[in-house]
Amino acid sequence: MKKNKITVIGAGQVGGTTAQRLAEKEFADIVLVDVSPDLPQGKVLDLLESGPIYGYDTRLIGTENYEETANSDIVIITSGVPRKPGMSRDDLLRVNAGIVKSVTEQVVQRSPEAILVVVSNPLDAMSYVAHRVSRFPRERVIGMAGALDSARFRAFIAMELEVSVENVHAFVLGGHGDSMVPLPRYTTVAGIPLTELLSKERLDALIQRTRDGGAEIVRLFKTGSAFYAPSAAIVEMVEAIVKDKKKILPCAVLCQGEYKIDNLFVGVPVKLGQGGIEEIIQIKLTPEEEANFRQSAVAVRELCEAVDKMI
Ligand code: 2OP
Repeated sequence: MKKNKITVIGAGQVGGTTAQRLAEKEFADIVLVDVSPDLPQGKVLDLLESGPIYGYDTRLIGTENYEETANSDIVIITSGVPRKPGMSRDDLLRVNAGIVKSVTEQVVQRSPEAILVVVSNPLDAMSYVAHRVSRFPRERVIGMAGALDSARFRAFIAMELEVSVENVHAFVLGGHGDSMVPLPRYTTVAGIPLTELLSKERLDALIQRTRDGGAEIVRLFKTGSAFYAPSAAIVEMVEAIVKDKKKILPCAVLCQGEYKIDNLFVGVPVKLGQGGIEEIIQIKLTPEEEANFRQSAVAVRELCEAVDKMI
């Protein structure tokens, strides 16, 4: 039986931890690529040496060139520079646009049928770059953001209410930036609407902490950005695709009329299965939620217009 093949571009903290989590799941062969000499080989060797302890037989290859990535089913693009304290994700636009463009060109030549999962920041604009350069159908270019932002929101709610994270379901829509839109009305704790469990004041505080979730980690790390939760969110998406789970998760996708948004990558709930994005789920928004969502989309559109002139 043919095993799935997953390529991870970038062997930094996010890429390396993603490769680790995927190796432990044992559902695909993995190729880890990085331009930094010997780094991908070193990380892969270290992962192979953990196999006997963890009990996985995952095949892993570490390489600096793209030949080994040929015919990948899924390619995860994590390349780019991370934020430093005080920087916004948008400050990374120019440098990461060039990197994501060149990575996408290399990848699509060798894996024309792959599903691309984009992780580089600023996320929505980099997903747009990967889509424009690859010319793949929108079903096969997916930005990882909402799964991460929702996980952060869920973690903060679980801490606040002292309940299991497994009881908390949440949605965060919009761009992966300061204007992201956590939706408490669609957030439940063991089926109970969150709005019945928390005061408006506490709710607003958790929403703000979610919006600042990435920056909070950057402040603590001082030299880089988050990687445990981002890699967990990537693997959640990849597992839904590989196992054809039809799982509904918020992801950045090219909206073409959905939510009255035209031709823009922005976070919305989608159904993930073996075809990539199998459906965009349209939920009803209140006028206030819709206004926030639109404001977030405007911020993303500005970035995409800027990036259009750069690539
Ligand atoms: C984050 O939110 C790096 O954007 C990523 O942590």
